[in-house]
Amino acid sequence: MKFFIDTADIAEIRDLAATGLVDGVTTNPSLVSKTGRDFFEVLAEICDIVPGPVSAEVTATDHETIVQEGRVLSKVADNIVVKTPLTPDGLKACKALSDEGIPINVTLCFSAAQAILAAKAGATYISPFVGRLDDIGNDGMALIAEIAEIYNAQPHIETEILVASVRHSVHVVEAAKMGAHVATLPPKVLRQMFKHPLTDKGLADFLADWEKTGQTIL
Ligand code: E4P
Repeated sequence: MKFFIDTADIAEIRDLAATGLVDGVTTNPSLVSKTGRDFFEVLAEICDIVPGPVSAEVTATDHETIVQEGRVLSKVADNIVVKTPLTPDGLKACKALSDEGIPINVTLCFSAAQAILAAKAGATYISPFVGRLDDIGNDGMALIAEIAEIYNAQPHIETEILVASVRHSVHVVEAAKMGAHVATLPPKVLRQMFKHPLTDKGLADFLADWEKTGQTIL
């Protein structure tokens, strides 16, 4: 399973990329807005730090302008993936841009029916938002299971399931069990995945006992 990080914060991306565990990055207009910086400068820097796919979202809502924006964004770097919304215009643009060889991440997916349409439109990734479904009392991970079942039953589908709106490490573990291809993790979730109190306690105990030996390895 691939891990993308879900942020436009350059310091966070640099820090987490250094772990060697980051395969790509996803951004959205809200994440870019938090940086207070120029979108194109931020994107170019992210693409320099992370060689894997970097998702950049269009902000137009009509088909023609989405296509124009997608072409402009895709020129920022070779590893840009254009994000289009799961609307009729967004999927029409997904089909047009995919046909031009531009990889598309279809975002704001909240149903299996929408995921079927995105696959038909040639999306490279479909992004179901699990956390936002949980927030309204639905079961976000049930949607991932449903999409995985459908995509597996249709072997011609090459669209990858990119689990988005992840809130905690249980979402990641469940997504991995379901065979999702990618999870995009807020930095705090990736950091949370390292943590276990027994790891910290065990390490402290080992080091205390080692100290008693008076030996060194180097
Ligand atoms: C990523 O592609 C999505 O835009 C992001 O995961 C949405 O997360 P949120 O629901 O926490 O805003």
